[in-house]
Amino acid sequence: MKSKIIEGFSKLNKEQKINWLNQQYGGGSGDLKNILEQYWNHNADLQKLHDEFTENTISNFYLPYGIAPNFLINDEIYALPMAIEESSVVAAASKSAKFWLDKGGFKTKLLGNTKLGHIHFIYKGEGSKLLQWFNTHLKEELIKQSKDLTKNMQMRGGGIVNIELIDKSKEIENYYQIKGSFNTQDSMGANFINSCLEQFSKTFKTEFQKSNIFNEEEKNSLQIIMSILSNYTPDCMARAEVSCKIKDLKDDSGMPPEEFAWKFKQAVEIAEVEPYRAATHNKGIMNGVDSVVIATGNDFRAVEACAHTFASHKGKYTSLTHCDIKNDQFRFWLDLPISLGIVGGLTKLHPLVIASLQILNNPSAEKLMQIVAVAGLAQNFAAIRSLITTGIQKGHMKMHLTNIINQLGATEKEKKEILNIFKEKTISHHLVAAELERLRKEQ
Ligand code: MEV
Repeated sequence: MKSKIIEGFSKLNKEQKINWLNQQYGGGSGDLKNILEQYWNHNADLQKLHDEFTENTISNFYLPYGIAPNFLINDEIYALPMAIEESSVVAAASKSAKFWLDKGGFKTKLLGNTKLGHIHFIYKGEGSKLLQWFNTHLKEELIKQSKDLTKNMQMRGGGIVNIELIDKSKEIENYYQIKGSFNTQDSMGANFINSCLEQFSKTFKTEFQKSNIFNEEEKNSLQIIMSILSNYTPDCMARAEVSCKIKDLKDDSGMPPEEFAWKFKQAVEIAEVEPYRAATHNKGIMNGVDSVVIATGNDFRAVEACAHTFASHKGKYTSLTHCDIKNDQFRFWLDLPISLGIVGGLTKLHPLVIASLQILNNPSAEKLMQIVAVAGLAQNFAAIRSLITTGIQKGHMKMHLTNIINQLGATEKEKKEILNIFKEKTISHHLVAAELERLRKEQ
């Protein structure tokens, strides 16, 4: 066991790292080494670029990169780039896009673009005194002393939107926050916000110690716990929606439009009240959201954290989408708080991210938020549509069938025959294996 502990792994070069791994975990045969090296890019410069994205890179981890075309969004046609491993997601998105194409498509709007961060601190003194000092002195000083950091962002139309003092002492004794609101324009803004907050924190400490309003005891009580952005951005939100006359909800299953609309609305309402269903319902939304977020080089963990926090902001986890039927009109929408960037991070470095943004007509960050919301809504529409008509497995397993056939090592000829056999049959790993065995015996 001890031999598996290594000092200075990061100092080894890539070959040395792989050799060590191969010895320790690959049984020394070279198979592991071959796999890792096989996924290197032939272009050495490109590989070097990828190597330098993170620490200790030894290979590339591929995800399928697909396109869901025919998305009519605010009267423009888009093809959505999606990076995802789950077989049915791109097909489901494409199916939704096609469904809404002749019904006015997807409409979106930006509901806000303000991002947040906090200084969390402890202060043992009178809250009202702190608030007065904050309003009459500190707030202005925080803005003034962070000018060097905010200058460029301000020139691009962004910067600090507001700074507030929040009393949280009812939740934790002596706990307060300085809450900063920011507009970070086309960048996701994590570095900008965190740098501003750290500067606020320095200014706060010095100005507080300098002030003659607080006594020694109060001064000694100030403890800054941390300064960090919040990935929960309820004021940075995009809405995507679809609507049509109920009679136009014609599904290929043959289900009458009125029944389809009613069942669909019930399905959404169930997700609104039942967290067990809401988790799966929202997971389906995130299938669409994450795949475009990854394809455009954005931080899908931040996006996930934000969406799920919003889904529980009323104290109970609920659906991110909603459905309404009024005067024979069906309306289905998603309000998605999401913070994205089209500059910074990998966005100008990763060749496929550059390609994705190009496919999307190089949108602004605000436009990208809306496109991603459409991907989430489309995915949810496709999932609910299947669930209330044919059931999910028909489409899912059809897409998964190729994975099963590949796992079983079928030849191209066998693959074709198996796909044909299972066109109308129930699919399972066991049944596909049995059919392949039968085919092979017949040959
Ligand atoms: C599977 O990845 C996602 C679904 O389960 C979503 C849903 O049930 O709404 C199909």
